[in-house]
Amino acid sequence: MSVAEAALSPADEVIINYHSHLLREYGSDDARVIWNSRFSQEQRFEVLLQVGDLNRASILDVGCGLGDFSRYLANRGISYGSYLGIDINPDMLDAAQEKYPGINCQCRDILGNPFKEGEFDYVFESGIFNLKTPNTVKRTFDTIDRMLDAAAKGVAMNFVSKLSGNDNPDVHYWLPSEIVAHVEKHRLPFMLRHDYRTNDFTVFVYKR
Ligand SMILES: C[S@@+](CC[C@H](N)C(=O)[O-])C[C@H]1O[C@@H](n2cnc3c(N)ncnc32)[C@H](O)[C@@H]1O
Repeated sequence: MSVAEAALSPADEVIINYHSHLLREYGSDDARVIWNSRFSQEQRFEVLLQVGDLNRASILDVGCGLGDFSRYLANRGISYGSYLGIDINPDMLDAAQEKYPGINCQCRDILGNPFKEGEFDYVFESGIFNLKTPNTVKRTFDTIDRMLDAAAKGVAMNFVSKLSGNDNPDVHYWLPSEIVAHVEKHRLPFMLRHDYRTNDFTVFVYKR
């Protein structure tokens, strides 16, 4: 069952309404639909792709939005084996199909409709844990766990950092230690990077 067919949770509704509003306001070519700027979006992508050798790898992009990560990988000359983008917002996916015809993406919630163990080499997310929603912390930790299940080699994910001191009322800021405490429970090798922007950090977790 797709997200569109399933009952939406209050958190899904907050997230979908937020991005659909921005999409209507600015259109799919404007970086404000996703991040503050193309530069900050691509800075995050550049760090994410350092998780491992992505050539020939199968990639899952959770919360793919407009699919820009797939274009970024291609522009960086990475010949990944396969790419699947999933998102809970059908408006974003329609815009992604229009922007990148032929992109492999589907409306799917990894929580309600998880993937098989190790179905993808690498699983990514960029910016999906940024909005304040009902139940943000549990939802985020459950999503991280499903991402880890789906990965055979590793997971790369980013978060907005509480250490920035920023205070946007729509944004859920994370302490790196909160994410590390959750990831530690899996007893897998991990790496934290909080060196590329003051308001963002990235965590890599390795399955092998
Ligand atoms: C800030 S945008 C980032 C899009 C893309 N990752 C990028 O950086 O260009 C966040 C996207 O994540 C999606 N999203 C948020 N939570 C999600 C979830 N649990 N599962 C799938 N998509 C989700 C939203 O619908 C939105 O399209």
